[in-house]
Amino acid sequence: MRKSKLLVIGGAGYVGSHFALHAVNRGFHVTIMDNLSKGHLGAVRSQRFVHTDLMDRSGFESHLFENRYDGILHFAASCLVGESVEKPAHYYQNNVIAAFNMLEAMRATGHQKVIFSSTCAVYGVPDSLPIGENHTKQPISPYGRSKLAIEWMLEDYQAAYGIRSAALRYFNAAGCEPSHDLGEDHNPETHLIPTVVRYALGIQKKFTLFGSDYPTPDGTCIRDYIHVTDLAEAHLKALDMLDREPLIRVNLGTGIGLSNKEIVDAVGRVLGRTIHPALGPRRAGDPPELVADAREAQRILNWTPKRSHIDAVVGEVVAWFSKHPNGYHA
Ligand SMILES: NC(=O)c1ccc[n+]([C@@H]2O[C@H](COP(=O)([O-])OP(=O)(O)OC[C@H]3O[C@@H](n4cnc5c(N)ncnc54)[C@H](O)[C@@H]3O)[C@@H](O)[C@H]2O)c1
Repeated sequence: MRKSKLLVIGGAGYVGSHFALHAVNRGFHVTIMDNLSKGHLGAVRSQRFVHTDLMDRSGFESHLFENRYDGILHFAASCLVGESVEKPAHYYQNNVIAAFNMLEAMRATGHQKVIFSSTCAVYGVPDSLPIGENHTKQPISPYGRSKLAIEWMLEDYQAAYGIRSAALRYFNAAGCEPSHDLGEDHNPETHLIPTVVRYALGIQKKFTLFGSDYPTPDGTCIRDYIHVTDLAEAHLKALDMLDREPLIRVNLGTGIGLSNKEIVDAVGRVLGRTIHPALGPRRAGDPPELVADAREAQRILNWTPKRSHIDAVVGEVVAWFSKHPNGYHA
């Protein structure tokens, strides 16, 4: 039987590289495309690698003319909320216009299926919890707005041109595959788990917990952490489901909320010591609580998270940074 061919755009980044590994392990033939603006060649394994920027529309279109894919996965984006407030133009360009380039090239070359990495940031500050897919979408940052704009574009391209799409709204991606030398290496790192682990291991000297006066039981923000390989499996399920459903929009989370303080405690538990972070003011744009209603994804995709237990997640991140204190850089 012919192996299905997948194009993973942004596959040298954190989530994309874990997806690419998982897809190869599941027997797919994977090509990674990345401009390496944030990604790492060290995160590319046996997959074919193509160094291309999605802003290069004609180059991308030529690639699609020369290579036929059974599915395209779009992980490539700029994704720092704070930066998006300072540089919205970059976010509309690298997220919305680059996604438009991809869709136009798909249209020109007859590619039919795309999976898009969306985000819980499309909901903004929720007025009810857990957050279901039909919750009002009022993103509060250019990053969240750029992602919602792409979701709308995908809906219109499905209706008019028949391009099938799944927009998967991740909550907080977490964990890694240290046994395959894959980890999380963002610069700057704005995610809590790698930051606390780096601080606890002495790789970074300072760590401040932003906000301890939120209306939550311990005063710190609550988030929903979903393992990257659980995310990867949901992508494969969505790809399969696109043969029957032309438009899929689902949350990917566990439905379980953990406070920032509980994450710090989990890192302490795994390392067998108490961690005392500095407490700072709230960070602008951080809603107090973001937890997914994860039932729709479980129903539609027949998928359940299996790797998202927090101590196991933290253990993997500790293992990765213990071996790679500088991430992918030697
Ligand atoms: N990490 C999370 O917790 C999280 C949560 C919600 C949504 N997401 C979404 O998931 C996706 C992946 O996130 P991540 O954490 O892996 O980010 P990342 O920065 O690690 O990966 C993004 C990759 O895309 C590449 N890229 C960016 N612009 C490109 C372009 N124009 N052409 C080609 N390649 C380009 C980067 O070099 C990088 O390798 C993003 O779309 C992000 O918005 C992530």
